[in-house]
Amino acid sequence: MVSKKWVYLFHELEQAEKYVSGDWERVRGLLGGKGANLAEMARIGVPVPPGFTVTTEACNAYQADGAFPEGLWDQMMVALKDVEKSTGKKFGGTENPLLVSCRSGAKFSMPGMMDTVLNIGLNDATAQGMIALTKNDRFVYDSYRRLIQMFGSVVLGMPDEAFEDVLDEYKSIKGFKLDTDLTADDLKELVAEFKKVTRKHKGFDFPQDPLEQMRLATEAVFKSWQGKRAVDYRRATNIPDDLGTAVNIVTMVFGNMGMDSGTGVAFTRNPATGEKKMYGDYLLNAQGEDVVAGIRNTEKIENMAKDLPEAYKQFMEITAKLELHYKDLQDVEFTVERGRLWMLQTRNGKRTARAAVKA
Ligand SMILES: Nc1ncnc2c1ncn2[C@@H]1O[C@H](COP(=O)(O)OP(=O)(O)OP(=O)(O)O)[C@@H](O)[C@H]1O
Ligand SMILES: [Mg+2]
Repeated sequence: MVSKKWVYLFHELEQAEKYVSGDWERVRGLLGGKGANLAEMARIGVPVPPGFTVTTEACNAYQADGAFPEGLWDQMMVALKDVEKSTGKKFGGTENPLLVSCRSGAKFSMPGMMDTVLNIGLNDATAQGMIALTKNDRFVYDSYRRLIQMFGSVVLGMPDEAFEDVLDEYKSIKGFKLDTDLTADDLKELVAEFKKVTRKHKGFDFPQDPLEQMRLATEAVFKSWQGKRAVDYRRATNIPDDLGTAVNIVTMVFGNMGMDSGTGVAFTRNPATGEKKMYGDYLLNAQGEDVVAGIRNTEKIENMAKDLPEAYKQFMEITAKLELHYKDLQDVEFTVERGRLWMLQTRNGKRTARAAVKA
């Protein structure tokens, strides 16, 4: 029996459309809002890191059986090969390792309710490979300690404080105030400390096998659909329980590679008044979560014009294009990796009636 198609590469949007008879609302139902828009951005020529979406149907099948449906994992492996081909990187490879994020994304956005794990694919061996490649050990150890931390909290259900306490204590011993004060050696030591935290709490080691990391993270996102936070949010907002979440596997791009890199979020116009002015925050040398986590003081988006002029110009062009395309104000996420801009998310921004009239 040929198993059902559970996985769509970002460049397979036409197939997804065909499956749901071309209706965009149903494409969003199948791929989730995040997945559908990543594929749509790729289609209209916006730079999106290669990746694929595991459908909400797969999530629902998982909820019903408590296991991956027949064919899902094989299809993920085929899609991963395609991503390796388009990026020229290899997942689990030591020469030019591919890292991915594993991101939840339901049909309707549920901000902060569901889970995401960044930097999947890092382990002791691929970390060495990335250091050889980038000559940037600070960046690599920073990414690695983030993975152990997010994997611990999202996938292994460990309390955030388990890692935060270790980090805070380390910083206070060293007299550091900011995460950016941490050197490569500090972060290397923190990787070792974080591994110990996992072992202590779980009784086993942080998994070194990248495929196991990906599989467990995907499963964790499926499970987060039934998490208390997500269920409560759906009750409060009248989102049906049977929609399920999609899972997006997205090639990692790095905003934490140095001062020519950064990450940010923005509204293409003022969500309260509709005034045509970009509203947003960004941070140099940081990874996605830092901007929203409030650990560091963010910069106003317009300051990006002097820090990353080329990327800023392109960002303004792309967001204008997205507004025109979706005919609505957009709420976007982006990352600049060594001067190169990548869009990581776009969605119609929520706004007041007054703002809608102006758009
Ligand atoms: N492949 C990637 N490369 C770089 N950054 C990424 C990647 N995937 C996700 N991120 C960043 O990680 C953060 C969390 O991702 P994600 O968008 O999945 O969840 P969220 O923004 O917390 O919630 P929501 O589901 O409402 O979007 C975001 O800032 C996002 O831009
Ligand atoms: Mg997001």
